[in-house]
Amino acid sequence: MADFEAVFALAGPVANPLPDDEGFIALWPTLMLRQRLPGFEAANGILADWILARARQHKDLTTDYRAGNLLAETHPAIRWLAGCIQVSARQYMQRQGVRTDTPWSLQGWANVNRRGDYHGVHNHPHSYLSGTYYVAVPRQEALAEGRLDLAPGEISFLDPRPQANMTAIAGDAQIEAEYSLLPAAGDLLLWPAWLHHMVHPNASDEARISISFNIVLKRPTDHLPDQS
Ligand SMILES: [Fe+2]
Repeated sequence: MADFEAVFALAGPVANPLPDDEGFIALWPTLMLRQRLPGFEAANGILADWILARARQHKDLTTDYRAGNLLAETHPAIRWLAGCIQVSARQYMQRQGVRTDTPWSLQGWANVNRRGDYHGVHNHPHSYLSGTYYVAVPRQEALAEGRLDLAPGEISFLDPRPQANMTAIAGDAQIEAEYSLLPAAGDLLLWPAWLHHMVHPNASDEARISISFNIVLKRPTDHLPDQS
């Protein structure tokens, strides 16, 4: 825990509901983390081979995501990833301003998305945080062969405040109700599990391989907020 504290000291929480020096209050911020994991170059080739081998044995690997827990496997590359996720989750919770010692479980599954595969709008019930680690993504040149208006290979997150963009004027960051990004191999994304998101179709013949996960809190009663 001591190592984490040095990192945490660099950043204060963003979810502070108190006014700043000028009286501004940032209500209901939605915090997302995008990090390039250290050591991804060495790990990704190993992870890709391992996942593709499993995909050959389990035809429903991507859709049967509740079967087993990939992030509990003992393979060294999986242990590396699980450790990185634990560090990133603690960084996230520190920045969020919540305590980081609430026990949680980490539950993961692999995704192999081939040409045309996509994930419609959804969120991850019964979880606290959700995320994805990208093992392999199609080259941009390969994606550009498809219809670019379909945002091939991108992941989108939707503004959780319905119609908050309706009155946006020039300069207002709320004008876009959809936040999209094109992930790179080695990226870890982490977001609140309630946040709706979707994955656009893979428009190439190169597979997009990722590992998604949920962080599920085991809430002891003395970790609940005081709302008296
Ligand atoms: Fe998801």
